[in-house]
Amino acid sequence: MDILPFKHPHPAPVPDPIAEAHHRIANSLALLFSTVRMQTVTVKKKAEPFSNAEVRHLLDGVAARIGTMGQLHRILSRVSSDGVVSLRPHLEEITDMLVAALACPEQQVRVVHDGCDCQVEMRQVQPVVLILCEIFINAMKYAHPTGVPLVMTVDCWRAPDGRLVLSISDDGIGLPENFAPGKNHGLGFKVMHSLAAELGGELQMQSSEMGLTFSLLLPVTAVVGIKLA
Ligand SMILES: Nc1ncnc2c1ncn2[C@@H]1O[C@H](COP(=O)(O)OP(=O)(O)OP(=O)(O)O)[C@@H](O)[C@H]1O
Ligand SMILES: [Mg+2]
Repeated sequence: MDILPFKHPHPAPVPDPIAEAHHRIANSLALLFSTVRMQTVTVKKKAEPFSNAEVRHLLDGVAARIGTMGQLHRILSRVSSDGVVSLRPHLEEITDMLVAALACPEQQVRVVHDGCDCQVEMRQVQPVVLILCEIFINAMKYAHPTGVPLVMTVDCWRAPDGRLVLSISDDGIGLPENFAPGKNHGLGFKVMHSLAAELGGELQMQSSEMGLTFSLLLPVTAVVGIKLA
């Protein structure tokens, strides 16, 4: 497989990988801290007692986020001096971990990886994997309320305008009929959109009765190369 390098008009300076890794990990832990604190506030406000399933989802979500931070730590600690990361193997490792954290006898899950591999700057990795984690947590909670086994698809390709498209889909029931974008957002959607903005990217959402698909578009300047499938 060939790597097709992109030529950037203004390439970003290569950061010191160790300093960048520490910075990213500290950021992610701060985000995890805020997420858990916000969930505590939500729990305190809820009038009715929590069901077993709700408690399980809360704890599974925390486990999945901690596991993602651990994987992020591992990825960033291994980045070569050019600061370039090949995404595909890491996405596979992270989805394996997410399945281990989130799947249970009542909700099985299988992940399909498709498309090309892509080399990105290390500073792109953290927002990408945190978005992936939130999408998986949501899919486990909402995609199949009846417990039908869930299939997640992670796909990657280069758009005609040169941007990288990372698409993450579930095969569930889609967003609720009365869902109002921007209004019915919980913490997850807010976090995902602010991470996408941090990337200088765009997060699009497409819902149907065949499932929910997120397309994360990374700017051309974030992509160092693409391995053809
Ligand atoms: N995969 C999905 N399938 C169907 N509906 C979904 C899916 N993901 C999200 N939703 C809907 O979008 C809403 C907003 O999701 P969001 O992640 O912002 O909040 P949440 O998961 O309800 O709470 P939090 O993320 O704060 O724990 C959800 O409440 C749910 O109704
Ligand atoms: Mg959520």
